[in-house]
Amino acid sequence: MAKKLHKLKIAGSPVFIGQTALEELKHNLGAAFANKETLFVLADENTIENCFPILVEQVPQLSSAYKIVVQPGEENKTLQTCERIWNELAVAGGNRRSLLINLGGGMITDLGGFAASVFHRGMEYVNVPTSLMAMIDASLGGKTGVDLYSLKNQIGLFSPPRGVYVYPGFLTTLPHRQLLSGYAEMMKHALIADSSSWNKLRKIPMAVISNWEDLIVESVQIKADIVNKDPEELGVRRKLNFGHTMGHAFETYSLRNDENPLTHGEAIAMGMICEAYISYRTIGLSHEQRDEIVKQILLNFNHYKIPTEAIDELVEITNYDKKNEKGRLMLTLLKGIGNSIEGQKCETALVREALFRFTDFGRLAD
Ligand code: GLY
Repeated sequence: MAKKLHKLKIAGSPVFIGQTALEELKHNLGAAFANKETLFVLADENTIENCFPILVEQVPQLSSAYKIVVQPGEENKTLQTCERIWNELAVAGGNRRSLLINLGGGMITDLGGFAASVFHRGMEYVNVPTSLMAMIDASLGGKTGVDLYSLKNQIGLFSPPRGVYVYPGFLTTLPHRQLLSGYAEMMKHALIADSSSWNKLRKIPMAVISNWEDLIVESVQIKADIVNKDPEELGVRRKLNFGHTMGHAFETYSLRNDENPLTHGEAIAMGMICEAYISYRTIGLSHEQRDEIVKQILLNFNHYKIPTEAIDELVEITNYDKKNEKGRLMLTLLKGIGNSIEGQKCETALVREALFRFTDFGRLAD
C-alpha cells in the first residue's frame, strides 16, 4: 500500500505528516529552498545522536549542513542559549539567505524559531519535530520564544515556520515519559473541541498505542481549525490554553523545587485537573464529566504531590501569567467535553480552592 502523506496548513505554514514527510523535506530543499546559501541544523545533545542520523539518511543534503548543538531541557530555553546560537550563526556566515532546520522537541522548535526570526531581522526556518508534544502542538502555529528566569515563554514572537515535517518514526527514539508529555496535549485538543476524539483516546491507555500517525493527524487538524481562525491569539486560539495557566504554575514550581522536575505535559495534565474543577464550579461542567476527565488523566499520569504550603507559591506564579488581563486571571474552561469557552475571568480564591482540593483527590469530588 502506498504511504500516505497528509498535508495541512496552519497559520500559513504547510504541515506534512507521514512516513514520507522527510522525503518531502528532501524534495523542498532542492525546490522551494534551492536558493538557500547555507543550511543550519539546530539540535540538542539527544536529537543530534538519536534523530540526526535518521534525518540525514532520508535527506542526504543535510550531511553537510552546519550543526548547532545545545543542551537539552527547558532550563536551557533561554536568551543565553540564543546568544550562543546567534554567535554560531554569525561565525558560520549565516544570513537572511540561510535556512535553519530545527530538529527536536518543543524546546528546540520554540528556541530555534525565535533565534532565527530575529537573526538579521528574520532568517527563515523549518521545524522537524521529534517529540509527540512538538509534532501535535509546539512546532505548529508560529509561537516562538524563550523563558525568562523560570517563567515560561515570556520573550518571543509569532513567526510561522516555512514548513513543518512530521515524521512519526522519530517517536521510537522517545523515552516513555516524553511520549506521555505529548499525550497530555493530545487529550487537551480533544477536550476543548472534539468529544469523539476524546472517546477514542478513552478507549486505550496510552502505553498500548502503536499507530500514532492517525491520532497525530486528528490532533493537528483540531489545532489547525482553531489557529487558522485566530493566528495571533486575539480570541478563539486561547482555547488551546486550557490547563496551561495552572499547568505553567506547576511547571515553574517544579522547576524551582524538584530535582527531577515535571515535564511540560505532566504539568499540563495536573493543570487540566484543576481547571476542570474550576469549570465545574463556574460554567457548568457536570461532575460526571469532571470525574471522567480526572479519572482518564490519572489512568496515564501520576498525581503530583504538593504540600498545602506550596499553594501560596503556586498562586503567586499564576499572577505572572501572560494571559492575565488587568491583573485578573483569564482561563479557558470547559462547558462540557469537546466544548470550551475562552476568556473566562477567575478569582484567586477559586484557584486557591482548586489547588487545595488538588492536594488531596478525595476533596475534588463534592
Ligand atoms: N500551544 C498553544 C498554541 O499554540 O496556541
